[in-house]
Amino acid sequence: MSFLQHLQCSLNGDVYPADQVHALSPAGRPLLCRYDLKRLRQQVDRDVFATRDGGFWCYEELLPCTDYSSVPRLGEIKTPLISLRDRRARIVVKDEGRLPTGSFKARGLALAVARARELGLHQLAMPSNGNAGAALAAYASRCDMRSLVVCPADNTPQMNIDEMRMQGAELELLDGMIDDCGKRVRELITGTDWFDVSTLKEPYRLEGKKTMGLELAEQYGWKLPSVIVYPTGGGTGLIGMWKGFKELVELGWLQQSELPRMVAVQADGCAPIVRAFAEGADEARRWDNAHTLAAGIRVPAAVGDRLMLQTLRESNGTAIAVSDAHIVSAWKQLASSEGLLLCPEGAATYAACQQLLDTGWISKDDEVVLFNCATGLKYPLPVT
Ligand SMILES: Cc1ncc(COP(=O)(O)O)c(C=O)c1O
Repeated sequence: MSFLQHLQCSLNGDVYPADQVHALSPAGRPLLCRYDLKRLRQQVDRDVFATRDGGFWCYEELLPCTDYSSVPRLGEIKTPLISLRDRRARIVVKDEGRLPTGSFKARGLALAVARARELGLHQLAMPSNGNAGAALAAYASRCDMRSLVVCPADNTPQMNIDEMRMQGAELELLDGMIDDCGKRVRELITGTDWFDVSTLKEPYRLEGKKTMGLELAEQYGWKLPSVIVYPTGGGTGLIGMWKGFKELVELGWLQQSELPRMVAVQADGCAPIVRAFAEGADEARRWDNAHTLAAGIRVPAAVGDRLMLQTLRESNGTAIAVSDAHIVSAWKQLASSEGLLLCPEGAATYAACQQLLDTGWISKDDEVVLFNCATGLKYPLPVT
């Protein structure tokens, strides 16, 4: 049974039927899934989620699919919270590297692929910095669907390229950034039966990413930590978690006054959201000559810019840039002193947390969750 009611334009609030295929709204903005939360509240007890297997699939009443007996399953789990021994605050890493395909991209792509299949689509295409393409390839193959991915040639980790190919994706490497790859995808698929599943250009990847927030709420006993630190590229995780928290507040399962401050972490070589946040802007300008070793957050322009900035402001959060040198030192420090081999984007959250502790924005009374979005084993490691 689905509680999904309709899709709603994130800019002007116009609504659209959810049983048809949609991309961006006619206003050119992301469409958001809206649920019948009143009915859901009457019919569902939040304690039921802890009794179910299947990782993020357990939140089915808050997800958009109609039939959960046939959704693609690859061993999804609820990802662990691992406390750091750093004593300057209570700091916990949520390790998304334990998910199928080794990254949090499994959440969004599992939902996008499952929903695409329900709506009769068979061929899914998108640009990717690596992990998203790998998750698309895996879930699409699992559903006997085709996948096509365009990646930046200079920055995509080799492991991602190999896993995409192994898992059945058609792959093109392009000399350019992720947004150039997006343009190439549109060129390749215009006038064909391929459907574009780029970040936030269809409504369902966001619902998958939302489950990071639902899962945190459940893991923390329907309270939340005071600060969430997230490595931000396209921003689906940040936006998705915040959307999930607001739904939980509307359901009466979380207190509005207890919502966390959300922190967007970017690299100082590609920080369009940090710049826009500092300028008080509603939208972000494209970042020229973007560069960072953390491939997943090298996103010079994001279609979700307005939603990210809204999330940061509504939550009394902030946006912060860290250098590649600091990412590498945080990466090595967590590996050697905590035994945690993060991805570089995950290490960036620890680097940011250190900076925010130094300025006092995070204090020793805070309970902080850092998102490690992928396993470190996918990356060339800075071992020297
Ligand atoms: C490891 C990793 N961290 C962070 C991100 C950024 O995630 P989002 O697009 O939700 O901002 C990505 C995206 O590719 C990634 O692969």
